[in-house]
Amino acid sequence: MGKLSRAALLYIGAVVVSAVVLVARGPFAGLRWQYVVFLGILVIVSESRATQLRQGQLTWSSSSAAMLASVVLVGPVGAAIVGACTALGLRRGPHLLQRVFNTSMYALSAYLAGRVFLAFGGHVGLPNEKSFPAIIAPFAAAALIHVAANHGLLSGVLWLTRPRDRMSSGSSGGGVGLSARLLLSDIGYAAYGLLMAALWSVVGFFAPLLVLIPLFVARWAVAQFAEQQKAYEATVGALCQAVETKDFYTRGHSDRVSRGSVMIAREIGMRSERVEAIGYAGMLHDVGKLGVPTKVLQKTGKLTEEEYAAIQLHPMRGLDIVREIGFLDEALAGIMHHHERIDGRGYPMGLAGDEIPEFARVLAVADAFDSMTSTRSYRGARPVAEAIEELRKWSGTQFDPAFVDAFVAALKREGWQRPEPQVIAADDLAAVTQDHDDPGAPIRVIDSL
Ligand SMILES: [Fe+2]
Repeated sequence: MGKLSRAALLYIGAVVVSAVVLVARGPFAGLRWQYVVFLGILVIVSESRATQLRQGQLTWSSSSAAMLASVVLVGPVGAAIVGACTALGLRRGPHLLQRVFNTSMYALSAYLAGRVFLAFGGHVGLPNEKSFPAIIAPFAAAALIHVAANHGLLSGVLWLTRPRDRMSSGSSGGGVGLSARLLLSDIGYAAYGLLMAALWSVVGFFAPLLVLIPLFVARWAVAQFAEQQKAYEATVGALCQAVETKDFYTRGHSDRVSRGSVMIAREIGMRSERVEAIGYAGMLHDVGKLGVPTKVLQKTGKLTEEEYAAIQLHPMRGLDIVREIGFLDEALAGIMHHHERIDGRGYPMGLAGDEIPEFARVLAVADAFDSMTSTRSYRGARPVAEAIEELRKWSGTQFDPAFVDAFVAALKREGWQRPEPQVIAADDLAAVTQDHDDPGAPIRVIDSL
């Protein structure tokens, strides 16, 4: 949290004061402290090991199950104290004010859940066989309030502390998706709270262990998956960096081709695993340039036939470099064929129409568009409208018309972040290089291929 606005501070203050007042009012008579302490320790352990979904994003932990069990076992005040134990979590990171807010938010939502449980006829204490099914309705109402209060209070603080300059960027889509998923998972976790409370009357203090051990195992698996994703991204990032170091002229190109390809993929309704794969394909489409002599890539004069042939080999070289990377899967076909043309006059195989893998046809559109809208040594960046016109012109001969249409539709809706214009030395302006991605570049057939 940076410097907070007055509204944000007032909001945080109101949440903290409400939590403190409600807990301080009690009543504490008859509170089963041994349960409160035990469940509080569970919350501390859960919070200390909360899974990081993505760096900088929200985290989830199984502590909500323990908090909801406490709603049944120790009532609103006890549940609020259990919720407040999040303050003692050993997870590093949160700013002190953020930690105070989180603690108050959990205490408040647990308290509200406890009140709703009572209001709907729930009885505080160990549930037994006779408690079912009557306990289900009050518990479900409590769980819903618990989740709604948590997400509502959190959304409020996020809204009040959001960076002002991002207000109209429209980039919150991912965050909304993530919040919706977290909301659903929290509602799912709520059921474990009732399970824990119900098991308590049978196995006592072992109940949380029986419930939480499988949850910890599941969470460990999710954490492994997140680690794996990070390793994938690091691998792709390192390869991209290597290409762009060698061919500095196309800095950021891989990233933008990846973004453009993902826009097309989403527009045509590709399923999410394929969208992710096409993102990787975009990042790595020119990885084969690592196998092209640097002096050819950076040459500012006219290329000889031999040099041009070396450039045309880059899709094959790309496949050679990354073919053993298992997770790339369908992305490999995109890398290998991103210079094929619908009319069969592309390379390396001269495939035509539907023979060209779908990933490659998508990449070709994003690749050419970014090439046209970026500065080249022999010309300035072309305006987006002009590049769209050019895509339309070559639609059906060089590009798949369906993907050109999809890209144009996505561009109209989402816009396009153009690269920063590069400052080009006057000497370089006079020089001519071959840009193999530029659709305006004449086709050259190399006999030796
Ligand atoms: Fe290429």
